[in-house]
Amino acid sequence: MISVKNVSFSYDSEEKEDRKKVLDNVSLDINQGELVAVLGHNGSGKSTLVKTFNGICIPDEGCVTVDGLDTGNEENCGQIRRKVGMVFQNPDNQIVATIVEEDVAFGPENLGIESEQIRKRVDDALRTVGMTAYASHAPHMLSGGQKQRVAIAGVIAMEPSYIVFDESTAMLDPKGRKEVIETIKKLNSKGITIILITHYMEEAALCDRIIVMNKGRVEKDGTPTEIFADAETMQKLGLGVPQPSLLAYELGKQGVKFEKTPLTAEEFIKEFTGKIR
Ligand SMILES: Nc1ncnc2c1ncn2[C@@H]1O[C@H](COP(=O)(O)OP(=O)(O)OP(=O)(O)O)[C@@H](O)[C@H]1O
Ligand SMILES: [Mg+2]
Repeated sequence: MISVKNVSFSYDSEEKEDRKKVLDNVSLDINQGELVAVLGHNGSGKSTLVKTFNGICIPDEGCVTVDGLDTGNEENCGQIRRKVGMVFQNPDNQIVATIVEEDVAFGPENLGIESEQIRKRVDDALRTVGMTAYASHAPHMLSGGQKQRVAIAGVIAMEPSYIVFDESTAMLDPKGRKEVIETIKKLNSKGITIILITHYMEEAALCDRIIVMNKGRVEKDGTPTEIFADAETMQKLGLGVPQPSLLAYELGKQGVKFEKTPLTAEEFIKEFTGKIR
């Protein structure tokens, strides 16, 4: 479990008066096996929040523990970084080697793992992301989605319990996005806890739980159905809701009430056709 308790954080700035709380008394728990989306307007503190999960940012007040290990204790740093992997927006910044399999091996090599074990981890990781056929290819020849899957393989070769995806689909075309989201779902089904920062509401709708950040605070925390039922608040926060949820919300104002906020076109159609029959 990742446990965040009363965490406040500011970045160092020269003018002490300028220091604003980027995280303001945030408390939340992320349980083993969850698939959690983090939403929020630009600058609401999403990336900073997840940086507290692996000790890149250490709270000024409060504490973060990962499986009981306090991120504020330097001795835990190595162990925590291995437990919590991160995949960022730009795959080009995450790929270090000139051959796919060497790139995936880079992390475990740095951990000092023996070569036979590394070979197995690299093969398993490439298989998981569906990139085995590209093992000896040059990363720069790959599509965005393929590169991002190589970056993910590099993270899973470290065998983390948690993986944070910080807008990892933002630079991809729809096909690449689909590939990465399918990979994320697969990792979650294998028991890896996933934290997914995204600006795509349709991606958030696929998660078990959504945390909405606003001005450094947790504004909302619930299931996608609960969060997207309140289209008005989401719009006030500068966020949207999936199209089917919005349509149901607008119809609700006209008196056509939906029992459960639909998240997908299929869910919308199912409930709507039930009403007009
Ligand atoms: N390294 C830094 N030094 C100083 N201020 C920073 C730094 N990184 C972020 N900030 C500031 O902290 C606030 C929160 O930033 P953060 O990156 O956590 O937001 P975010 O929700 O991830 O935004 P986005 O959707 O744009 O990625 C912003 O006001 C930002 O300008
Ligand atoms: Mg961010």
